[in-house]
Amino acid sequence: MPEMPPVGIALIGSGRISGAHLAAAMAVPDAVRIVATVDPDPAAAQQAAASFGALALTSLDEALALPDVEAVLISSPNTLHGEQALAALAAGRHALVEKPLAETGAQARMLASEAARHGLVLAAGHTYRHNAAVDTLIDRMPDWGPLRAVSVSSCVFWDGPQAPWWATRSPEEGLILSLFAPHSLDFVQLVMGADDPLRVHAEAARWQPGWAGEDEAMITLAYPGRRMASVHISYNQRSVFDRKSLHFAQGVAEIVDGEVLKWNGDVLVCPPEGVLVNPRQMGGRRMGHFFEQQLREFAAAVRGLPHCCPTGHDAARLIELIDRIKASARTNSADAIDPPFEG
Ligand SMILES: NC(=O)c1ccc[n+]([C@@H]2O[C@H](COP(=O)([O-])OP(=O)(O)OC[C@H]3O[C@@H](n4cnc5c(N)ncnc54)[C@H](O)[C@@H]3O)[C@@H](O)[C@H]2O)c1
Repeated sequence: MPEMPPVGIALIGSGRISGAHLAAAMAVPDAVRIVATVDPDPAAAQQAAASFGALALTSLDEALALPDVEAVLISSPNTLHGEQALAALAAGRHALVEKPLAETGAQARMLASEAARHGLVLAAGHTYRHNAAVDTLIDRMPDWGPLRAVSVSSCVFWDGPQAPWWATRSPEEGLILSLFAPHSLDFVQLVMGADDPLRVHAEAARWQPGWAGEDEAMITLAYPGRRMASVHISYNQRSVFDRKSLHFAQGVAEIVDGEVLKWNGDVLVCPPEGVLVNPRQMGGRRMGHFFEQQLREFAAAVRGLPHCCPTGHDAARLIELIDRIKASARTNSADAIDPPFEG
């Protein structure tokens, strides 16, 4: 990026994932500067602020009153994203909002309109698009002939809620379809371009007793031009599995473990040593570079430079798609989610 002052950021929500954002901010001081951290728990805000000499605050309004805060990074629980992003935009601040951008498509669309109206950047934390395998795939795709089918399988293991609010999400609000599906669907949107699916079919199930929502889902999507996609996501797979296959007229591209890009079996992109430590295990992949690149791209967007962040419009399209997926899953498989767990 050309010489520009780093973007002054207030981190809103100093919980579990904030550690990844703070470590990334520490690694890219030329792009961003943490000016304040916010959490209703003062100790959490203080701990997050300490290494940056930032202000530790307990409310978003206090952060929005600081002139140095050009942007907010919202990493609070999902139900707060919509209202906090709206407050930030209304106060003239750019926003990078952890996924999901909002709980409903209508709310997400309203945020995208507000950002456009104020000329502000609204980006969503679709973190895993920010890497060399995805960038190279997007660059090379036009050489490989028409894309016909995409298959994404992203399966991890969470032994119960990772934050208390996971346990209280209702089946209607959605668990994995709200928390995890955005990453896989963002990839599908990236490769399918501006088209939204013509048809959506989803099945979902709950295997674990520690929450009320679905923890496993299978989604099929029909796109204009006879193209198709399938997405399988799971919180129940102890041997972590992360594959993306793309069937083009001239062959098959794959992204394995989020990092290795292959074309007809030949490796085109491989991460540096030490990134894929043990990709079959939870925590066995180094993820810091995704978060660092995400902050660099967001800073570029705020400075009006070329960037790879999802736009507010694309993030809203994604939440509108999730609305359709949730509705399909409720219609098709509510009986696999709602009954008391007996297994
Ligand atoms: N990009 C990724 O890969 C990724 C990974 C994990 C989580 N996330 C997302 O990050 C967000 C946070 O998840 P988490 O696991 O860190 O949750 P968490 O519960 O650990 O952290 C949320 C924090 O927000 C604080 N908070 C509550 N109310 C607040 C308010 N009004 N203002 C400011 N802060 C408030 C809580 O005290 C807590 O410290 C979620 O939206 C989740 O979907 C993204």
